[in-house]
Amino acid sequence: MSVCMFPRPRVCSNCIPASSSFHEGCFEPVGDNTMVTPEGFNHEHPHGSLATVPSTSNNNVRSFSYNELRTATRNFRPDSVIGEGGFGCVYKGWIDEETYKATRPGTGLMIAVKTLNQEGLQGHREWVAEVYYLGRLQHKNLVKLIGYCAEDHHRMLVYEFMARGSLENHLFRHHQSQPLSWAIRMKICVGVARALAFLHEAEPPVIYRDLKASNILLDNDYNAKLSDLGLAKDGPTGDQTHVSTRVMGTYGYAAPEYMTTGHLTTKNDVYAFGILLLEILTGRRAIDYSQPSAEQNLLEWAIPYLMDKHKAYRIIDPQLEGRYSMKGARRIINLVCQCLVAESKLRPEMKNVVEILEPLQEKRLEDSTKL
Ligand SMILES: Nc1ncnc2c1ncn2[C@@H]1O[C@H](COP(=O)(O)OP(=O)(O)OP(=O)(O)O)[C@@H](O)[C@H]1O
Ligand SMILES: [Mg+2]
Repeated sequence: MSVCMFPRPRVCSNCIPASSSFHEGCFEPVGDNTMVTPEGFNHEHPHGSLATVPSTSNNNVRSFSYNELRTATRNFRPDSVIGEGGFGCVYKGWIDEETYKATRPGTGLMIAVKTLNQEGLQGHREWVAEVYYLGRLQHKNLVKLIGYCAEDHHRMLVYEFMARGSLENHLFRHHQSQPLSWAIRMKICVGVARALAFLHEAEPPVIYRDLKASNILLDNDYNAKLSDLGLAKDGPTGDQTHVSTRVMGTYGYAAPEYMTTGHLTTKNDVYAFGILLLEILTGRRAIDYSQPSAEQNLLEWAIPYLMDKHKAYRIIDPQLEGRYSMKGARRIINLVCQCLVAESKLRPEMKNVVEILEPLQEKRLEDSTKL
């Protein structure tokens, strides 16, 4: 297997020295924007009881041997690498649609194989959570988990291949692709909103916790699918108002009340969705240290514009070159403000967000002149 370095390591607070500066109510950025606190952490060793594979209600999730995936990815060749995140490298591969046996490149079903390179508890926990949730929950806006590998120390995840990669690449890495049109941006917003609404309406509700542009994958027709349920958590049930967790997620997207208290509710995802909408609207990253200091935090930069309806249009992505629906943009700006309200209870439910967004997908809005 080729060795790869983590550009964005997730760090487990159990695995860092006790002298580290983490303390309750405080968080530190890890790697890029990933953050973590030690609050409420339960000490279980990953190679002990957690080493078992979670049971899923989906018989279609298949267990692969290490050798099968090695063959499917042509020995994890460097030129099979399609991406790399905090979990490890992602390789493309090919399998037979029926037998799931490795096939010659270019034949059968194309897959993405994510390899867990990280040692320690956090990576293993994310692997377990991913198999557990994606094995149980299927939706057209959630990436399909085809299977996993849990042989010896190897931990891998096998997904359907998403031909257009991540939203992050399309929004922010302009040299790699054409700017997304307004219509495609709306389609993506609806897809992501539907996925979150589906998770929030599950029994028990599932809180996604890691919404960001890199976790949204696009198929050939720009259908958006959420990937990475490794940080997902069962939400509150019955009389509970929240579940308590240590703070994990990504800087710039996490709701303020979650960062200060660790109290997790579905409204934390709604806040993150508001930030994502702002990214899609502006073409700017939630946090971007390459910008001048006043523009590094997208929300702080955008607030004065969002507060003034005459100035609000100035934040719209210049790459759209004015080709957007005025009416649609107005509604998106309103929705951003609703999702980012400080009082979490006042934020809309994701199912209401879906209702607001769905009509914006229609190409012919009354005053859309340049779509
Ligand atoms: N199913 C897939 N199909 C096609 N490409 C994929 C698939 N899964 C992941 N990728 C590619 O691999 C990249 C890395 O994904 P990964 O989820 O490991 O990291 P990330 O989302 O960038 O960061 P993080 O570790 O913080 O989630 C993605 O940005 C995407 O380009
Ligand atoms: Mg990811």
